[in-house]
Amino acid sequence: VLIAHITDLHIHSPGALTFGVAPMASNLMACIDHINNVSPKPDLVLVTGDITNTGSIEETKHAAHLLSSLQIPYYVIPGNHDDQKALRTIFDYKHCPSECDKKINYVVELEEFRLIALDSSVAGSPGGEITKEQSQWLDKKLKENISKHTLIFMHHPPINCGVIETDIDGFEGADLLAEIISKYNHIEKILCGHIHLAINSRWCGTVISSAPSMGLHLLLDLTLKRESQFFLDSPTYQLHYLTQKGDLVTHTVPVKSSYDTYLFEENDPKV
Ligand SMILES: [Fe+2]
Repeated sequence: VLIAHITDLHIHSPGALTFGVAPMASNLMACIDHINNVSPKPDLVLVTGDITNTGSIEETKHAAHLLSSLQIPYYVIPGNHDDQKALRTIFDYKHCPSECDKKINYVVELEEFRLIALDSSVAGSPGGEITKEQSQWLDKKLKENISKHTLIFMHHPPINCGVIETDIDGFEGADLLAEIISKYNHIEKILCGHIHLAINSRWCGTVISSAPSMGLHLLLDLTLKRESQFFLDSPTYQLHYLTQKGDLVTHTVPVKSSYDTYLFEENDPKV
């Protein structure tokens, strides 16, 4: 299994730059081109929220149009910048096969893995949320098959990461989620986005991992005192690769238009 993971696309309306400076549509297209051509070909792509910048129908349509260039199946969940109703309306059911009314939760069955989508967005708030109803649904889904490795994907990491986006904005129901996660030992990882940084942390017997964004990277500041700032760099995604020995290894892949590459030996600077 090879799973591509993209997050925090922050797509604006056509022709506009996100926050006035970030070329998110062209960054996403460069990333999609990379994913379509990487070898071996990923089995699918997970898109873990903040697909749009403001959640408007126009932005959602634009994002769906751009994502339709992917040559492999892809699945979406909302982030705090999205409107979950707009996602349900614009994205085909095959990309957003929600089983629930209030939130976008669903299961994707692969031969070697189960993928469980959890909607951590809450309308009008930058923070995360898992409701009692969702934790019960998750418990039921996890119980259904405890012999198959399972990945959960959601927008918000349910822990404090030392940045405003998690430590100040918070995560309602993190305790409820922790209670369910702790009961099982077949959850390989919880894949997230939201903080525009690549992090990983042990949590409740599994691993929380977040992918960086489509080029709109958070300037790391662990003081929690300064207003959040971002800088622009290569769009970056992750590849979760199941090795032959059964370890799921996460690779972080920056997308550049060209690479200067060198062998691991003395290189002549004059050449
Ligand atoms: Fe974001």
